Amino acid sequence: MRPKVTVVGAGNVGATCAERVAEKGYADVVLVDIVEGLPQGKALDLLQSGPIVGFDTSVTGSNSYEATDHSDIVVITSGVARKPGMSRDDLLLTNKKIVQAVTESVVRVSPDCIIIVVTNPLDAMTQLALHASRFPKHRVMGQSGVLDSARFRTFVAAEMGVSVHDVYACVLGGHGDTMVLLPRYSTVGGVPITELLPKSTIDRLVARTVNGGGEIVALLKTGSAFYAPGAAAAQMVDAMLMDRKKILPCATLLEGEYGMTGLVVGVPVRLGRKGVEQVIELKLTAEESAALRRSGDAVKELLSVMKLN
Ligand code: NAI
Ligand code: 2OP
Repeated sequence: MRPKVTVVGAGNVGATCAERVAEKGYADVVLVDIVEGLPQGKALDLLQSGPIVGFDTSVTGSNSYEATDHSDIVVITSGVARKPGMSRDDLLLTNKKIVQAVTESVVRVSPDCIIIVVTNPLDAMTQLALHASRFPKHRVMGQSGVLDSARFRTFVAAEMGVSVHDVYACVLGGHGDTMVLLPRYSTVGGVPITELLPKSTIDRLVARTVNGGGEIVALLKTGSAFYAPGAAAAQMVDAMLMDRKKILPCATLLEGEYGMTGLVVGVPVRLGRKGVEQVIELKLTAEESAALRRSGDAVKELLSVMKLN
């Protein structure tokens, strides 16, 4: 039997993620949404791309969770997205209700699955899904760092005229204005960018990355980014289904690591078949630690609005 991946939310990010996973050709994909016909229509369209693209796995759509039973991995993208002038945090109370209800439905039929949360505000929604699922922490995580580091990699590669394949970027903290890019640990061909680029250039690329989501919202005007976010969630699915043991930045519950306890924020982890198999602890300077603490505090504020801490 093939692995089964469910994507909840057949909107921009969900459909893109489903497409990326389906194209791998090793997992059946189920798309779920509350809008009647939407997941069915997008799934059918996606399925019909199989003969062209070259996959023969199944892609189905449903408005019911029964179709998702015994999923190996569930990606939650359901919720509202940002419009110009909104921050990710403005989405909190609407998306809280959606993520809570979706998580409970997912868990009812797939009690052994791994959950990847994409809905914003990301760290708070991941903590909520962890709480609502009652799953062990290694089976609930959030996608943010893969996207944020991909943005930084894109900008660094363009600045230096090198392939993105040769650029590695390290990002910690919450998915928002307080995210912590670590230039010291970001490299081109293995060399830290702090040795390759002037500080003013690095600062400019960091600032563009921190505002990376906002830059796209301002251009699109009707929603937020989805190609790179969908690809980022699909990379996490791949890392776990294929047991790749990949080191990726993900939002995960910290229990003492980086001096934080009981809080979900982004850190590098090892992703394998069991989910988050290890939190990688980097040595931080006092300044980097302070920035990470500030980012954690921003997540805590949202948790207290949700009465989750
Ligand atoms: P979208 O509006 O295109 O899609 C959202 C979908 O969720 C819609 O089809 C809607 O019908 C569905 N939905 C709403 N309530 C539902 C429920 N109770 N059950 C099932 N489906 C439901 O939005 P988009 O662009 O796909 O973004 C989705 C979420 O992902 C937003 O919260 C956005 O802020 C977030 N996001 C997070 C990123 C990250 O890096 N963590 C990156 C990009 C987006
Ligand atoms: C982004 O960073 C909206 O969180 C989303 O593009």
